[in-house]
Amino acid sequence: MSNTNNGLDRSMVFAAANVAEKAAIAAYDWIGRGDKEAADQAAVDAMRTALNALPMKGRIVIGEGERDEAPMLYIGEEVGNGKGPEIDIALDPLEGTTPTANGMTNSLAVLAMAPRGGLLHAPDTYMEKIAVGPGMKAGVVDLDAPIEDNLTALARAKGMPVCDLTVCVLLRPRHEDMVARIRKTGARVSFITDGDVAGVISTTDPMTGIDLYVGSGGAPEGVLAAAALRCVGGQMQGRLLFRNDDERARAERTGITDFDRKYDLHDLAGGEDIVFTATGVTSGALVDGVRKNGNIAQTHTLLLSTMEDAWRRMRGRFTV
Ligand code: FBP
Repeated sequence: MSNTNNGLDRSMVFAAANVAEKAAIAAYDWIGRGDKEAADQAAVDAMRTALNALPMKGRIVIGEGERDEAPMLYIGEEVGNGKGPEIDIALDPLEGTTPTANGMTNSLAVLAMAPRGGLLHAPDTYMEKIAVGPGMKAGVVDLDAPIEDNLTALARAKGMPVCDLTVCVLLRPRHEDMVARIRKTGARVSFITDGDVAGVISTTDPMTGIDLYVGSGGAPEGVLAAAALRCVGGQMQGRLLFRNDDERARAERTGITDFDRKYDLHDLAGGEDIVFTATGVTSGALVDGVRKNGNIAQTHTLLLSTMEDAWRRMRGRFTV
């Protein structure tokens, strides 16, 4: 791992992982208790405390919402001890509040860091997304192409029939038409009930069997997923979706002027150096959830960075 002298050196990379670990452990206490707000708040509190201990001038660019609606980790909030490098931070202390509250799979504490300006300031709106893993020519799939054409192109690029492709989709009524069209081509659909950061990342890991991610989900989650793909390779495109003028105003406040813009991976997460880390709260395809026995908590964390050519999964054991 290089030390590029921009603040994201080895110690900061592992410090980022520790921030996600702390948030996941805090959320653990709320698994299955039916209170997603309390679970989220616990993760937020822990993540903020851990971030404020870090030697940096940190700034939240993807957070819990705007200043007037989120008391902590709001967009623009400064975190860190105020000494050290200028770092932009995208975070979701609890990605998957519903599965956590319901004791279901696939919830994560997620964080990405880049030197200032390295991550898109996305508003808290929806985003259409398409993503594939690494190793294919640029533009093999396109957000604006019909899903049938994307599947044909992807199958050709992978040297397999369309019927052997598996597409990951968030299980939502808004995706019903697209799912019917995917199935009509013969391809399989693998639904996730929540957590499209993990859904997008699953395209990059051959062990998941997922070839393509498509559909709409949160724009902040889109930036976080893009940060991960920047570290491990793959392609992603996204376009913001607005349901009303309030959402357009939110976008304007983040500096967005072209509401129809199609963002590619580097538009979403353009920093030369990027760190992405996700700790499991409940178990999923990416990482295991927190396990606790008495005052011992065990975590499982995915730690990726553009400075290292490896998937790193780490187990941590903490006295809590
Ligand atoms: P929360 O953790 O904020 O509940 O988000 C979970 C999630 O599934 C995201 O992964 C996804 O981007 C978004 O919700 C989809 O939104 P919706 O549930 O409104 O379709």
